[in-house]
Amino acid sequence: MKKLIAVIALAILPVASMANTGESMKLESANIDLGNEAAIQRGVKYFVNYCMGCHSAQYVRYKLFTKSGLSEQQIKDNLIFNGSNVGDLMTNAMAGEYAANAFGAPAPDLTLEARRRSADWIYTYLKGFYTDPSRPTGVNNTVFHNVGMPNVLWELEGIKDPVYRYEVHEGGHVVAEFESEAQARVKARELGEDARVEKVVGHFNLVRPGTKSAGEFDQVVRDLATYLTYIAEPVKLERQRLGVWVLLFLVVFTVLAYITKKEWWKDVH
Ligand code: HEC
Repeated sequence: MKKLIAVIALAILPVASMANTGESMKLESANIDLGNEAAIQRGVKYFVNYCMGCHSAQYVRYKLFTKSGLSEQQIKDNLIFNGSNVGDLMTNAMAGEYAANAFGAPAPDLTLEARRRSADWIYTYLKGFYTDPSRPTGVNNTVFHNVGMPNVLWELEGIKDPVYRYEVHEGGHVVAEFESEAQARVKARELGEDARVEKVVGHFNLVRPGTKSAGEFDQVVRDLATYLTYIAEPVKLERQRLGVWVLLFLVVFTVLAYITKKEWWKDVH
């Protein structure tokens, strides 16, 4: 038993320590539930309203959301604004080039974004915009430094100023933290040539509230993360459902095989 615990600990430890050494801000847990159809329905609605101006989901057909409980008529009425049909792909003709010109970076297609990054990354990213007057869009982002995307959800979330923290690094470790840059520099000078000061966002200061409370906004972002995770692998849910049937089948089959075996061997003994 002790051995087993040691093996499990060894397997988990490297992952846990890796999570702490990341240079960038820690990701928040999105806590999504792919079985929650209402969340997927809300997520796709936010997506067509707030994201599709620039992004597409070009491998997804609108029709996919009939599997999340929407009727074709509901999809037509609530999700399609560009004259597409329910069977069409969620493409966006002007997206790529327009964003590349306007924001210095193309807005990537988001079909597989949740697999490329993760639900937690998307969740933290959408909550991570803060004011930065040095940027052309007026905002920066905690997990995507110098991002080209503007904070498109600011009306819902409000406007957040960053409160910076100054970390003194030496030999790859943070050895001290200060609220004042001057103090951090004094400390770094004391420590010697290897030490350097890094400015990081400590926390946010809400300077103008949005139309949603913090908790409501978290839910909006969680819905978007749920939707993006769903479209990245819509068959995942089906696989899980199928998995249950496969296991049930195996149980029934084992019982039948056992009864058959008993029946056959009865005469041999
Ligand atoms: C005004 C145009 C615009 C809108 C609207 C917009 N984005 Fe973006 N988005 C961009 C651009 C441009 C980038 C690329 C940023 C870069 O590479 O610096 C981007 C990048 C991203 C990324 C990171 C892609 C990567 O590199 O991994 C995600 C995730 C994302 N957007 C999600 C969203 C979501 C969700 C919405 C809707 C709530 C949205 N975006 C709305 C322009 C936009």
